[in-house]
Amino acid sequence: MDRLYVSGGKPLLGSVTIGGMKNAALPIIFATILVNDVCILENLPEVSDIYSALEIVRRMGAEVEQIERFTYRIDTRTVRSNSVPLDLARIMRGSYYVLGAELGRFGRSATALPGGCNLGARPIDQHIKGFEALGATVNCNTTISCYTDKPLEGTSIYLDVASVGATCNIMLAATTAKGMTVIDNAAREPHIVDLANFLNSCGANISGAGTEVIKIRGVESLHGGTYAIIPDMIEAGTYMIAAAATKGDLTVKNVIPRHLEATTRKLEEMGVTVEEGDDFVRVSSDGNLKKVRVKTDFYPGFPTDMNPQFCVLLCLAEGQSKLTESVMDFRFKYTDELIRMGAKISVQGRDAIIDGVPELTPANVRAVDLRAGAAMVIAALAANGTTIIEDIHHIQRGYEDMVGKLRGVGADIKIVSDDIRA
Ligand code: EPU
Repeated sequence: MDRLYVSGGKPLLGSVTIGGMKNAALPIIFATILVNDVCILENLPEVSDIYSALEIVRRMGAEVEQIERFTYRIDTRTVRSNSVPLDLARIMRGSYYVLGAELGRFGRSATALPGGCNLGARPIDQHIKGFEALGATVNCNTTISCYTDKPLEGTSIYLDVASVGATCNIMLAATTAKGMTVIDNAAREPHIVDLANFLNSCGANISGAGTEVIKIRGVESLHGGTYAIIPDMIEAGTYMIAAAATKGDLTVKNVIPRHLEATTRKLEEMGVTVEEGDDFVRVSSDGNLKKVRVKTDFYPGFPTDMNPQFCVLLCLAEGQSKLTESVMDFRFKYTDELIRMGAKISVQGRDAIIDGVPELTPANVRAVDLRAGAAMVIAALAANGTTIIEDIHHIQRGYEDMVGKLRGVGADIKIVSDDIRA
């Protein structure tokens, strides 16, 4: 079992380069099944969820070859229908994109109920509603299966929740359906736009991605091509917060600053200095942090995937802050771990009331999920002394070489295995 040892209390100084966005790369990897040709995907992040997705596609019969660091060639012409490896599909959430992709290509699909972080109920009723509206029959028990005997037909679908997953899945299934599909109350996250751009580059006819109304005019078939994934706004935001929490001065490179607006504005409200360039942000702080109220929301609101990391900063701010979670049913499990480090947090339903403390203290803590793990790293970097973080496989699902990147900007952090202490 690997653990992280972090000796904190040092400012992060220098620059860090952000990788491709996991949550954009996942639907795009599965979209290659729909494309039914050769795709070259660039800027894929080196994280375990991406390796799992590539392995699922490979085990479905695709030829998957790494041709450069971050670049893969995926030939899906040899993919067989109904071949999803359930053992792998069940460990990650993004595997459910196989449903939309296979339904669009073969008219049928079956996969495991999705895994991923435990953040509450996370139902998939909106995916099912979309598939059924397009004409598929969906069965859901220990697995999910969907099929149709005739071609899917475009229609209007109103999402009751602006779900990222449902928007991507319906977009995938509708790309080769007959006629026009309109998704109303669609998610507007940058990864939705990235999936639409990828599909359009392969011959799809999708407009409106990034707004709440997406129109998909079905096309007969798609063709392969080369596509580069956008930078990861959550990875970038995590390093921005780490800079502020350690009184550092960090340039976060290879970002789209517009995607970071909500985080940038909240940091500024707390007294952190943020300079925005064309493709970088520079974040510095003298450690005087003001209390704020933060409410997570769908994009362009404050991202739920930044809730735990931002909470660490609120713990270090003067006065009482309030953090409200409005996207996921339950996201506050990690607060128990922060309390072990001296934080003063009281969770009341969807609100966390946070009384700032002058400093956090080192402890043995766990990464209870992916973003919670990142929060523990930030807390450990800010605390004077050595913190040990367990269950770091969660962090490795979504953060590319976090240890190497942090070491490069002055952090004292290392992975220690039970057998090898290095
Ligand atoms: N929801 C429904 N019904 C549905 C789908 C969603 O009620 O059919 C609800 C969920 O229960 C949740 C809310 O809608 O309360 C948002 O869910 P959404 O479908 O948007 O999220 P997701 O597709 O399950 C993706 C990311 C998450 C990220 C959310 C929100 C992937 C693989 N996962 O999840 O990423 O938190 O969007 O932005 O893309 C992470 O990377 O750490 C992570 C958890």
